[in-house]
Amino acid sequence: MKNQQNKLRILTGDTPTGRLHLGHLVGSLENRVLMQNDYDCYFLIANVHAFTTRMDKPDDIHQSVIDIAIDYLAAGIDPQKSTIFLQSEIPAIAELTFFFSMLIPYPRLMRNPTIKDEIRDKGLGDNYPFGFLLYPVGQVADILAFRPAFVPVGEDQVPHLEMAREVARRFNQLYCHVDPHTEDADYLKKGGLFPIIEVKLGRSHRLVGIGAPGPDGNLYKMSKSLNNYILLSDDSDTVQQKVMSMYTDPKRLKSTYKGSIENNPLWIFHETFNPDKIWVEEAKERYRNGMIGDVECKKRLIEVLVALIQPMRQRRLQYEKDMNYIQSVLKEGTAKANVLAAHTLILAKEAMKQRYY
Ligand code: TRP
Repeated sequence: MKNQQNKLRILTGDTPTGRLHLGHLVGSLENRVLMQNDYDCYFLIANVHAFTTRMDKPDDIHQSVIDIAIDYLAAGIDPQKSTIFLQSEIPAIAELTFFFSMLIPYPRLMRNPTIKDEIRDKGLGDNYPFGFLLYPVGQVADILAFRPAFVPVGEDQVPHLEMAREVARRFNQLYCHVDPHTEDADYLKKGGLFPIIEVKLGRSHRLVGIGAPGPDGNLYKMSKSLNNYILLSDDSDTVQQKVMSMYTDPKRLKSTYKGSIENNPLWIFHETFNPDKIWVEEAKERYRNGMIGDVECKKRLIEVLVALIQPMRQRRLQYEKDMNYIQSVLKEGTAKANVLAAHTLILAKEAMKQRYY
């Protein structure tokens, strides 16, 4: 779990389904930028997983991979410190997926709440491919191939990480003969190969989108498929237009003009992004009492978001002009990641008595 400099390893990743948005930033990305000084960081671009729902759009997936690599760099991930790599170029991940799939009962997959939510939100019905159910197993392999200590993610990924913990315990018990009563933290000390990874949630576990709530009254999370996002690469006009059309408390338009803070994206965004906490607290009070208009609060939010996003956008424009550099970051990162993952695979096969020469 440690490298030569004695830094603990972390691993996380993104499925390339478009550019990254503010939900990614506060759910995980900003955390990664902070962690890269103190940890040995591996960031995986899950391009194989992208095929589970977009197998008919290889060009889009290709473009999304490039976009995510650029978003990483623009957000401040430094390839001198962190390893950015491509899932499809790590054969050990595919091999481990097959072995790990034996350690997960099929009904267990169907109980995974993230899988259920995705089937609902993406309107997959019963039309999803077999590979869609396989992808959480693949994600377990993404993680365990690197034997990290922590996995920083947004809240929606927690069920997948729980599976990684279950598979690691089971593998260690079956093939490394670790006693099933062992505490999670002690598995490696007792001879296990895979750590029981810890989840690290971002500061906002689940950022809401800019649209209206669903039929149950709850706001949706910010998501590409729901078209309720603000991208890290949106220009200032787009940010302005998205914030101006953002959902707020609809009751305010009626007679009382008093507004509710709860369940209101305008205030969730101010709380999450506005560094001027004093203004936010005062304005919330005035909003509750009908003393400040939506437009004023939205204009403030536009200023805050533009100040956050513009520097990233500027850096992105520079990187877009240098595709050779982007390619070299991916190539070098993937080469380094492969050394570690291939070593894990050898150790796993050894534990499973599948080395013959
Ligand atoms: N499923 C994650 C997402 O869609 C991406 C991902 C793939 C991942 N493999 C991972 C995240 C391993 C953390 C660890 O956001």
